[in-house]
Amino acid sequence: MVKALYSEKVMEEFEHPKNVGEIENPDGVGKVGQPICGDVMVITIKVEKDRIVDVKFKTFGCASAIATTSMITEMAKGKTIEEALKLTRANVADELGGLPPIKMHCSNLAADALHEAIYDYLTKKGKEITPELQAEHEAVRKRDASLYIETHGETH
Ligand code: FES
Repeated sequence: MVKALYSEKVMEEFEHPKNVGEIENPDGVGKVGQPICGDVMVITIKVEKDRIVDVKFKTFGCASAIATTSMITEMAKGKTIEEALKLTRANVADELGGLPPIKMHCSNLAADALHEAIYDYLTKKGKEITPELQAEHEAVRKRDASLYIETHGETH
């Protein structure tokens, strides 16, 4: 029944996720929540000469969140910051052979956490943040604020 819902690629990434864990002394950290379900995703990145040389994730998330994040970490590794910022949830879902519509929101966590980690890296290095990335960051923080109010009774 589960297999009928998910593509083989989703099942493969879920059963054998890549890049699980946390990078020590990361260059960027992206932490995002999904108010729809209350799940949380953390992505850490290592960057050398503006290229993502390592990326890892940890999640309190569902099978779709695990599969999409495993896939996005694979796709992001070796890419320049600029290229990695072009990875969207749609790219990841396509690469996985699609997700059930009810699970599309889960793929937000992967792309948003990656972009947030890049935002963190650029901010720490004092590098330029494009207006698009700034707008994305603000939208994610606003969404997360609603999550924290609901779950912890406070905002960050
Ligand atoms: Fe929460 Fe999928 S149900 S991330």
